Amino acid sequence: MTAPLKHSDPIRVDVALGDRAYDIIIGRDVLQSLGTRIAALRPGVRTAIVTDRNVAKHWLAPAEAALAQAGIGSSAIVVDEGEGSKTYAGLEKVSEALIAAKIERNDLVVALGGGVVGDLAGFAAAILRRGVDFVQVPTSLLAQVDSSVGGKTGINSPQGKNLLGAFHQPVLVIADTAVLDTLSPRQFRAGYAEVAKYGVLGDEAFLAWLEANHAEVFKGGAAREHAIATSCRAKAAIVARDERETGDRALLNLGHTFGHALEAATGFSDRLFHGEGVAIGMVLAAQFSAALGMIAASDAERVARHLADVGLPTHLQDIAGFAQEGLADADALMALMAQDKKVKRGKLTFILLEAVGRAVIARDIEPGRVRDFLQARLAQRT
Ligand code: GLY
Repeated sequence: MTAPLKHSDPIRVDVALGDRAYDIIIGRDVLQSLGTRIAALRPGVRTAIVTDRNVAKHWLAPAEAALAQAGIGSSAIVVDEGEGSKTYAGLEKVSEALIAAKIERNDLVVALGGGVVGDLAGFAAAILRRGVDFVQVPTSLLAQVDSSVGGKTGINSPQGKNLLGAFHQPVLVIADTAVLDTLSPRQFRAGYAEVAKYGVLGDEAFLAWLEANHAEVFKGGAAREHAIATSCRAKAAIVARDERETGDRALLNLGHTFGHALEAATGFSDRLFHGEGVAIGMVLAAQFSAALGMIAASDAERVARHLADVGLPTHLQDIAGFAQEGLADADALMALMAQDKKVKRGKLTFILLEAVGRAVIARDIEPGRVRDFLQARLAQRT
């Protein structure tokens, strides 16, 4: 697999969901085509752009201009940045603003932002007038390769993340790779963990390509577009065969059972971004697979080495303040995993590896086995 050598036309990835199929358009400056693409899909439509304050500073005006150029009217709904907006209060604010903006059944909501904005605006669109279509314009790497594709929308409950939501597919995804230039290096790196995940879970050749080309992906340009398109194609294929996560879609949770426990342990704060939790979780899943004899220890080392090479955390002990707060305790982590929705009748579901590039769903993992593994990991490096 080789990267294209120069920028080319935007890349189009099809999410094949029958009468709800849609395109993901990937490329530099494709935001400029937002209006013409929407006009082609929905002539005469009106729109409301939901975004957050941070993203609005950089990208609201260009998005509005792109719509205006195509003769599409828009109003803007700006929420606070961060998880705090993915709440009942945030949903109320967005929903009331959409009603006040007179967004009708045949109009469109545009979600301009990262995962929080996409999940919130998508859910508001799903319930407004029993369902209004929406367009995703993801502005973080994580949102471009994961959350904007596949139709998972929702908000958090005080009792847990993403406990309220709906499957509501967008009608179009516009992934402009130029908008990623305004991300901090740490945010970009965290999103990269989800890119690497597609290689580790289902495409060894892609992982090998990333091992050789990751510096170019970080620099931008054609390699970045290639990595995003390959990730979107992988996600689109899984979503097309299991939209509602009754089977294979769970493979996308590689690294997330351990990762969510670590995010919870650090209070879902800036101490550990979601993608950083996934990076550590993916390494733990690979090491656990090796401990169960499913892959060689050298395979787990390969996964860890690549993530470390790009500067992602790969050890529990890489999390700031981890030991001091008593989190370096296998029982505390097990308790956090037990709260996760991946537990059924006392058994844990894990996504494990039977090869690098081939993940499997393991539904009956004995908690004691996981506890012993975690204790061993914690003892190895302090
Ligand atoms: N982020 C996992 C999924 O969309 O299923």
